[in-house]
Amino acid sequence: MSKVLELPEVEIRERNWSDSLILQGDTRSIINELPNDFYSSCITSPPYWGKRDYGYDEQIGAEENLSEYIEHLVNIFRGVREKLKEDGTFWLNIGDSYTSGNRTWRAEDKKNPAREMSYRPRTPQGLKPKDLIGIPWRLAFALQADGWYLRSDIIWYKPNCQPESVKDRPTQSHEYIFLFSKSEDYYYDYENAKEPAAEKGKTRNKRSVWQVNTEPLPEAHFATFPEELIKPIIMASSKENDLVLDPFFGSGTVGVVCNKLNRKFHGIELKQDYIDIAERRLKNVR
Ligand SMILES: C[S@@+](CC[C@H](N)C(=O)[O-])C[C@H]1O[C@@H](n2cnc3c(N)ncnc32)[C@H](O)[C@@H]1O
Repeated sequence: MSKVLELPEVEIRERNWSDSLILQGDTRSIINELPNDFYSSCITSPPYWGKRDYGYDEQIGAEENLSEYIEHLVNIFRGVREKLKEDGTFWLNIGDSYTSGNRTWRAEDKKNPAREMSYRPRTPQGLKPKDLIGIPWRLAFALQADGWYLRSDIIWYKPNCQPESVKDRPTQSHEYIFLFSKSEDYYYDYENAKEPAAEKGKTRNKRSVWQVNTEPLPEAHFATFPEELIKPIIMASSKENDLVLDPFFGSGTVGVVCNKLNRKFHGIELKQDYIDIAERRLKNVR
């Protein structure tokens, strides 16, 4: 079962931390209230830089400079590292962007209101209009420098990706998932993570390119995780009844998959509308 928890902090300290919980509020403050050395893994997708307008003050992803965005995420994920068990892992999904060519806003998108932008970040220093920014690797290197062990880059290949109107480069059809660990040795269930091999009935070590279709969730105005993307991560990074953290819970896909695989979860989310969606989805899985 999941529960919505409202601040203030006093209430937070009285919670039974071994339950699955949705924690409502800003990850930047809530994370400090969580128990240390507690979670088997963290699986998350933060707001991407300059892609969505969630309509919050000081929202993550709306920083004017790329370096500030990266610094903010490094700080949040440093907090996550404290909360992971010594043998815990952190799985970070992040996509790339192109520089905007100095447009400062994006027009209304009727199908997707969250894409209407009241801001648009400037072209970062040293880059030109139309440059691919390389955000995933810039962030990965910054996290590595902050103390994380960078163990794998996984390409999430999306066969049903959004078409693009560009004619001078290939259509972007992938995002990254980075596997980080807190320590040199960490929990990774090699057997549980295996994938089918070409030879019938055989399996092999999981490869680093994962083909998974996106699954639009019409009520959510942002990209949600497909369950098939999250399943192998939970299988590889936790045992039954272990606790998994998602500090940007959104519509709660990490919670849904945890319920299906008998894991517990803590999900942090700022917006009531998205918590409502997550609760509705979670009710349908136990
Ligand atoms: C990319 S979405 C996550 C989607 C999620 N993986 C799913 O499957 O639905 C990012 C989420 O982070 C939330 N968010 C943004 N800033 C936040 C903050 N400071 N604290 C907590 N949640 C935040 C947004 O409201 C949004 O729901």
